[in-house]
Amino acid sequence: MSFDLSVIPNKNIIVGITGGIAAYKSAILVRRLKDAGFNVRVVMTEGAQAFITPLTFQALSGNPVHTQLLDPEAEAGMGHIELARWADLVLIAPASCDTLAKFAAGLADDLLSTLYLATSAPVWVAPAMNQQMWAAKATQRNLATLVDDGVHVIMPESGSQACGDVGLGRMPEPEELARQVTDYFHKAQRAIAEKFGLLASKHVVITAGPTREAIDPVRYISNHSTGKMGFALAAACYAAGAKVTLIAGPVSLDTPNGVRRINVSSAVQMLDTSMQLLDEGCDVFIATAAVADYRVAEVAEHKIKKSGDELDIALIKNPDIVATIAQQDKRPFMVGFAAETRNVEEYAAGKLEAKKLDMIACNDVSRADIGFASDENAMTVFFAEGYHLPKRDLEKASKQEIAQQLVEAIHDALHHDPAQDEAF
Ligand code: C5P
Repeated sequence: MSFDLSVIPNKNIIVGITGGIAAYKSAILVRRLKDAGFNVRVVMTEGAQAFITPLTFQALSGNPVHTQLLDPEAEAGMGHIELARWADLVLIAPASCDTLAKFAAGLADDLLSTLYLATSAPVWVAPAMNQQMWAAKATQRNLATLVDDGVHVIMPESGSQACGDVGLGRMPEPEELARQVTDYFHKAQRAIAEKFGLLASKHVVITAGPTREAIDPVRYISNHSTGKMGFALAAACYAAGAKVTLIAGPVSLDTPNGVRRINVSSAVQMLDTSMQLLDEGCDVFIATAAVADYRVAEVAEHKIKKSGDELDIALIKNPDIVATIAQQDKRPFMVGFAAETRNVEEYAAGKLEAKKLDMIACNDVSRADIGFASDENAMTVFFAEGYHLPKRDLEKASKQEIAQQLVEAIHDALHHDPAQDEAF
């Protein structure tokens, strides 16, 4: 089982909008929730419609807006009970003091208050009102009742209000509300992944990107690796429930959600960091980095001046990171990558053996449509002999999809017991 945490797939949010000037902010809120991947349906009270039209929300949510409880036509489509069942979360923003009072008292005289009683989904309210009305004893009493009833209250902010007052009662910005909703679903998904994900309770360390080998204080030797495959793998491993540490060479990529990132520059730094992480306890080590094979023997202390027509720079071999980790006593499950232009299978098998890996994923970089800077990849995966697992061809797909399939391959190898395998 795996979970993509970059978007929230197929989660349904009902945004309830009540009468208040903050209703204009709800248009942006609906937009942001849609951007985050939620299915959104909007329910508006009569008061809300005095501030902003249902048509705005219909356009933004891509769904008809629900306004009436006793509308036979609307009930024939998605009635209030179906709507209540459809929701994974009901967010009332803005929530007027009138609506809070209705919820607290259990009234059901319009669609939104009926929905509140009829849903088993979590209900969040973002109250927005004049500071005096917020401070009123009745409002505070109602809020206390709602909290007691399990409603999550998003506290209003303090500041200048549309009515000219200054104080508590402003609805938080829509981006902030959307962030809190997204966060809630991410956390819920993460909790499931940590329990049931393919890599649940594993610590995965991934090297990614190029290394940079200094020549002098301003120059270096490097390569064109973008780090995309390693970063996609980090996201996929995290989504599969693992704790993930990404050792990244210099790349311009955002750190995937939930992943710990340690930036390094040279191969020696990458190895040192890998060894430290091994001490922390590492279950799976994935080497996607394009490590420079050589580094400059003696890095010049000062910028090398232009002089003769030729310049000789002596290079020495860099340590092989993945092979070094594979030799350690506390050796994790080792995954390597191979980029080849010919005899792909033969070279891959050779590397698997020579570097003492458990699994190797290799691609044919002579193909112009995949590999290095491309967003897509195609690979063949080989397992060490002891696993008795046949090779796997991963057809051309996005690096995210390939990463997902690699996670499955790692999981299968970790859980494969050759003794149970009749065929061998
Ligand atoms: O030998 P080659 O560079 O083709 O091997 C590629 C694999 O070995 C990749 O997994 C790469 O990250 C890893 N590697 C390494 N340290 C090196 C060279 C390669 O970890 N110095």
